[in-house]
Amino acid sequence: MHAEAPIGVVGTGYVGLVSAVCFAHLGHQVISMDVDEAKIATLNEGRTPIYEPGLEKLMEDNASRLTFTTSHDDLAPCRILFVAVDTPPSPSGDADLSSVHSVVREIAARGGERLIVMKSTVPVGTGHRVLSDLRALGAGGVRYAANPEFLREGAAIQDFLEPDRVVVGAFDAEDGEAVADLYRGIDADVIHTSVPTAEMIKYASNAFLATKISFINEIANVCEQVGADVRVVAHGMGLDHRIGPHFLQAGIGYGGSCFPKDVQALKQLAGNSGYHFQLLNAVIEVNALQKRRVVGKLKQRLGRLHGRRVALLGLTFKPNTDDLREAASIVLAGRLRDEGAEVRAYDPMIEPAEHPLFPGVTICPDVSSALEGADAAVLVTEWAEFGRLDWAAAAAIMRRPLLVDGRNFVDPAVILEAGLEYEGIGLGDGLSDHD
Ligand SMILES: NC(=O)c1ccc[n+]([C@@H]2O[C@H](COP(=O)([O-])OP(=O)(O)OC[C@H]3O[C@@H](n4cnc5c(N)ncnc54)[C@H](O)[C@@H]3O)[C@@H](O)[C@H]2O)c1
Repeated sequence: MHAEAPIGVVGTGYVGLVSAVCFAHLGHQVISMDVDEAKIATLNEGRTPIYEPGLEKLMEDNASRLTFTTSHDDLAPCRILFVAVDTPPSPSGDADLSSVHSVVREIAARGGERLIVMKSTVPVGTGHRVLSDLRALGAGGVRYAANPEFLREGAAIQDFLEPDRVVVGAFDAEDGEAVADLYRGIDADVIHTSVPTAEMIKYASNAFLATKISFINEIANVCEQVGADVRVVAHGMGLDHRIGPHFLQAGIGYGGSCFPKDVQALKQLAGNSGYHFQLLNAVIEVNALQKRRVVGKLKQRLGRLHGRRVALLGLTFKPNTDDLREAASIVLAGRLRDEGAEVRAYDPMIEPAEHPLFPGVTICPDVSSALEGADAAVLVTEWAEFGRLDWAAAAAIMRRPLLVDGRNFVDPAVILEAGLEYEGIGLGDGLSDHD
């Protein structure tokens, strides 16, 4: 392994671009490749095609160590090639590995002594399969390691540079060391494992976090029946160090590019290997139902939704990203439109134009135009600016000042004081508990 050789990163999406920029920040030369010509053109102009806080600045600071290309041939000097292409769900629920296999074929065709390091989230067994594909393609010098990524969009740079752990699965101890060596300068435990174990750590981690979310959402739903406040329940639970405070925020369910597909893929993986993963079925079902509960809450307050105007505050699957993949807003907007409601929406990251994911929804340039004349507002994404909103002014322009807070994000007392009706998730029959 040549330590001085540049690192290759295939795929310049949320994971690939952040990894490339952060490796450059750690002092490595990095060549990033993507098939998307528009993305590479944008990157070559010094701009990032995605929104991720701090990324453009870090990219600018490390521009001398970063190269972007659409050609696999330009990766020729790289001995280590990270693969960070998308692995979306296929119609069966299994992970669609077509992008991964296409990259592997390109690398195999160029042969040589190189190490593929899989950063994409791939089902357990993928490493073994890629290795036998490489042999079949006559690329015996190309080796394979797994280095799953755990970063969160919106906090991706910090997560990459200050990870809770780095997981490296390798078929060969030397390859594992070579990958770990690239993270020199990062203060984190490196867990060396077999390739299948590394692949499973990623799936098990995401499935566990999704389970925590569905669990607290079910607790919230029971809280509504029995008059307890889930925020205080979660606080009381989270102080127990065996439980911990994270991922215990009740709301309208998880979305995004990872949890839904990874939970589904683990369920499929288990099923394909003959095991019925009962718990994950419930996690998925609870999450699907949770997105729809908001519609039920609106109906309880407004009666029929036909002809009602509903404002959605936030569309991205979480704040500080422009990512809409599997966002709860998509299901919610669709349900409301099906019920005959007029849907207006505002999100700081989404342009006020027709959006293919939100047919029939008017996307507004600011919060006020979304709220104007609305019969209800639903807080879907906890963008900081919604926490600072002048709610009295909001109440004044709404036809019916009603806020359904899908993230339990704003202080109910402030909302009530401003003259709105307030409904959260799992707050029981009163709004009197405080955490
Ligand atoms: N987004 C996250 O928060 C996150 C976190 C951890 C792990 N992951 C995993 O990392 C992987 C990448 O996720 P992402 O969100 O960065 O995806 P993304 O869709 O943002 O980026 C994928 C990139 O790969 C490129 N690509 C596709 N096929 C290619 C090919 N044949 N050659 C070169 N480039 C190709 C695409 O053009 C795109 O730019 C997925 O497996 C995902 O599950 C994502």
